[in-house]
Order: sequence, then structure tokens, then C-alpha cells
Amino acid sequence: MEKILVTGALGQIGSELIPALRKKFGNENVIAVGHRKEPSEEFKNAGPFERADTRNKDELKALIEKYNIDTIYHLVGVLSAVGEKNPDLAWDVNMNGLKNILELAVEYKIKRLFWPSSIAAFGPTTPLENTPQKTILEPTTMYGVTKVAGELLCQYYFVKYGLDVRSLRYPGIISWKTPPGGGTTDYAVAIYYEGLEKGHYDCFVRGNTVLPMMYMDDAVKATMQLMEAEPEKITIRTAYNLTAVSFSAKELADNVAEHIEGFTCTFIPDERQKIADSWPSTIDDSKAREDWGWNHQFGLDEISADMVKNLKNNK
Ligand code: SER
Repeated sequence: MEKILVTGALGQIGSELIPALRKKFGNENVIAVGHRKEPSEEFKNAGPFERADTRNKDELKALIEKYNIDTIYHLVGVLSAVGEKNPDLAWDVNMNGLKNILELAVEYKIKRLFWPSSIAAFGPTTPLENTPQKTILEPTTMYGVTKVAGELLCQYYFVKYGLDVRSLRYPGIISWKTPPGGGTTDYAVAIYYEGLEKGHYDCFVRGNTVLPMMYMDDAVKATMQLMEAEPEKITIRTAYNLTAVSFSAKELADNVAEHIEGFTCTFIPDERQKIADSWPSTIDDSKAREDWGWNHQFGLDEISADMVKNLKNNK
């Protein structure tokens, strides 16, 4: 039986991956680990919830022992925009947390470990159109630096200790359960929140900014598919390129206007424009599609329809 520990439980991905894992493996078998945020009553009652700072190895060790953990999803991370405001914190949380998890995974013979990488691993010297799996990785954000270092560290633990660690370079993820949380791709989430609240959004990147994006349902599906794949199928031990759809901020705004009557958008770039400009606009994720059958479902129009429906219901 799987005993799964998920760090970053209350973050954007954790709050949606955990219910999906619980549905599949049983509520009691998925241990949600948060740090500072307060979980909702619904989340707290749904299954085990614990608190730990992943920078503290003893706290993690105690949880692995208490629940006899054999699988870990280590989702904690300081995202790109917050990371530029506090690079030392981004390094500390993103690197030291991951190192602790990797060391404990070897010590406790964890069967499988997932850790998220990102399009932020790329940088301005990367080919930014149809970005290949193996390419130049010279990111210019601290978040991106921790993603490249983290990818290499994961691969090192696979080569040196045989640890079955798997990773994805997520594109921007669009979802409605948690409010936007400090990333550069957050405009593609905030536009729906503010669109419904105010009928207007001041977008912090230019209208012609194109980034790869994905709906949360697809991101959860990709994560579970990757983790279920037979080990022989996994040929990439840094992180797989992954994408669904690419669109400009203007195309996004036009699409939102089709789903929210009277919606308007202005484009007022701030410091996050520079980060967005350093990331690819389209990604070649054929390796993920070949190796373990990745296939996305949601295009922009389906994303907008679902976002608007759920945010309206959730008011
Ligand atoms: N969505 C993240 C960010 O914008 C990228 O991984 O920081």
C-alpha cells in the first residue's frame, strides 16, 4: 500500500493534487504537509494534515517515520516573482528543502519521489520557440537557478543512489482553488479572479507576451501519469518538458471577454515582464508524449469556460 507524503500541501498544485491522490489511494494514505498557511476546514477534515518546515530535516524525518512513508511529492517552493524580491529565501527554501528530502529519501528507501521543475529553468539564451528537451539552461532568476540546480541534484541522486526521482518542467498553471501566489505566470490566473470581481484587469505583462500554459486538471493528470509509469519508461531524470497551450496575454484577455460580459483589460508591464521575456513561448514536450503517453486535454477556450464556471460557483 502506498503511504504518500505531500509537502507544499496548501500551495497551488498541492491543494488540487492531494484530493486526486486521496481519491486514488485513500484519504488516510495521503499525508498533507503545510507550513504557515491555515487549511480550510474541508481540507483539514479530508485526511491527515501535519505541519513542517522542509528546511528542518528532523521535522520531516519524524513524519516519514510516523506514517511509514514510501512515496513523496515535494512541492514546496518560492516562486519566481517572490524569489526576485527575496533571493536568499528562494535559495534556502528551494535548495535546502530539496536536499533534505533527497537525503531522507535515500535513508528511508523511498520508492518514488516527485519534485516540480519549471519553464523557469530556461533563460534568455535558450531557444525560446519550440524549446527542446536538451538545451541551454542559463536562467536569470533565482527561482530558475534553484530549478536547474534542483534538476541536476535529482539526477545525481538517481545516478549515485538509484533513487527513483521524477520531475516535470511545468508551464504556467491556471487554476481556481487557490488565489495566485507569487509567480510570473499569475496574470493568467488573476485575470479570471479580477475579471469576475471588477470586470477589468490591469495585466502586468505586455499584450504580445506569449508563455506556455496548462490547466490544473491537465497538470494533475501529467503528474500522476508520470509517477505511475514503469521505471524503464523514464528516460529523463532531470525533468521532462511539458506543455499544453501557448497564447499571448492579449489572446487570453480576448478569450476572457468572451466568457465574462463587458470584460476589459489594460496592459501595464512591471518588473515581471523581464522574467516573462526570459522564458520560452512554446515548448517541445515530445519526450513526455513518447515516454509515458502525455496528452493534454484543455485548450484556452475550455480553460476559460471552466475557470469562470468554478469561480462563479465558489463565490
Ligand atoms: N508559474 C511559475 C512562476 O511564474 C513558473 O514555474 O513563477
